[in-house]
Amino acid sequence: MLSPNHKKSDKSENTNIYGTRYFSQPIPKFEIPKEGMSPKTAYRLIHDELNLDGNTNLNLASFVTTWMEEEADKLIAENNGKNFVDNDEYPQTGKIHDRVINMLAKLFNASKEDNFVGTSTIGSSEAIMLGLLAHKWHWRESREKKGIKNNQNPNIVIGADVHVVWKKFAKYFDVELRMVPMEKDKYILTAKSVKEYVDENTIAVGVVLGTTFTGQIDEIYEINSLLEEVKEKKGWDISIHVDAASGGFVIPFIDPEFKWDFRLSHVRSINVSGHKYGLVYPGVGWLIFKDKKYLSEDLIFNVNYLGGELPTFNLNFSKGSSMVLAQYYNLLRLGIKGYTDIMENLMLTAKYLKNMLKELDIFDFLDEELELPIITMKLKENYEKTANVFEISNKLREHGWIIPAYTMPPNIEEIAVLRIVIKENFSRDMAEMLVKDLKEIEKLYKEHETGNKTKKKNLINIY
Ligand SMILES: Cc1ncc(COP(=O)(O)O)c(C=O)c1O
Repeated sequence: MLSPNHKKSDKSENTNIYGTRYFSQPIPKFEIPKEGMSPKTAYRLIHDELNLDGNTNLNLASFVTTWMEEEADKLIAENNGKNFVDNDEYPQTGKIHDRVINMLAKLFNASKEDNFVGTSTIGSSEAIMLGLLAHKWHWRESREKKGIKNNQNPNIVIGADVHVVWKKFAKYFDVELRMVPMEKDKYILTAKSVKEYVDENTIAVGVVLGTTFTGQIDEIYEINSLLEEVKEKKGWDISIHVDAASGGFVIPFIDPEFKWDFRLSHVRSINVSGHKYGLVYPGVGWLIFKDKKYLSEDLIFNVNYLGGELPTFNLNFSKGSSMVLAQYYNLLRLGIKGYTDIMENLMLTAKYLKNMLKELDIFDFLDEELELPIITMKLKENYEKTANVFEISNKLREHGWIIPAYTMPPNIEEIAVLRIVIKENFSRDMAEMLVKDLKEIEKLYKEHETGNKTKKKNLINIY
């Protein structure tokens, strides 16, 4: 019989790691343990606990990259110890960073005459906050130059389709939020709706190249034309910041003629998430200004603690270098052709999956023509009374799939949707398996609806 006092060893010489005392005791959770443990034990304890997390490859909720090539993994591991901000110690990392800025500015069609500048960030959220701060400063300085004293009430104009970071910016940095509500069958920001919201205190209009809610694209071209008209008639020169968190690494490859970027006269800053379709692990984002005149000198801090003089424009100070380097790896490794091949495949898979989902006949789609590899669907009206997307999301989780259900933004919050984000490691085969699992759920629903009770009682509660 096993005695409770049976003395177990700390070491795994005569047993394997699961025979050591650490696996018969609670793992320290609230206090730092008095003594440490072997690296193998610490690794195994944490590794095993993380088995409870979802499978990253089945996570169709997140936009964030879950797979990179071995060589990228190696490069990342080699550079994990480098603080990006130590530019004086790691000058080559800084040079590589600047090369990425160059490549992205050109990808977003900055011209030779443009004096573009940019920075890496932790993600699009930091990039958006920095971009909007620069517009706030630019707006104020431009007015001061004209001798205007009243500069107390800046505002930003955005659609209700924006990511939460835009609202955070308005609150944290004390800028009036002018949010254009969504309409029933239009889930994007339109030029017509923006018109009534802008005035001389508008520091920027925020537009999205692939909204978080539906993956659709705001009317960027039309909004730019509207702002050209406003400038001509009223003299207000209002900038556009494009939130290209998702679309910035997709649209330039699948539809390079589509004008949403620095080719448009009022687009002065763009953010993109390297860790989304830039195909790098979290966290790297990028912010590019068309011209350095939009980034006030006043916002750039020069620090000398690290050796040389270092100009910084970031919310955070220290951060890792690895993801910046991993971004450069992808740009070199894939080139335009490689990114295009991947993005085209993603669109093909998304369309293939959407066609199969259509056949299920229980969903309506928010975006008839997919613009990004993102599928958003709601239940058909006749299913709405008995089914609900939140339960379908839960049931899919039982099959391993992570597909979120949520309600749409204010004014259309009665619409509840499921969203599927297709990433590069989601194959056609996986799409078929997902549809097979959804079919099972649909079948049960239909049987239930016709009174033909199924034996699989555990699935009934979906409906
Ligand atoms: C349109 C949009 N903007 C901004 C963000 C925030 O990006 P990040 O997670 O890179 O900070 C997201 C995230 O999903 C997004 O979809």
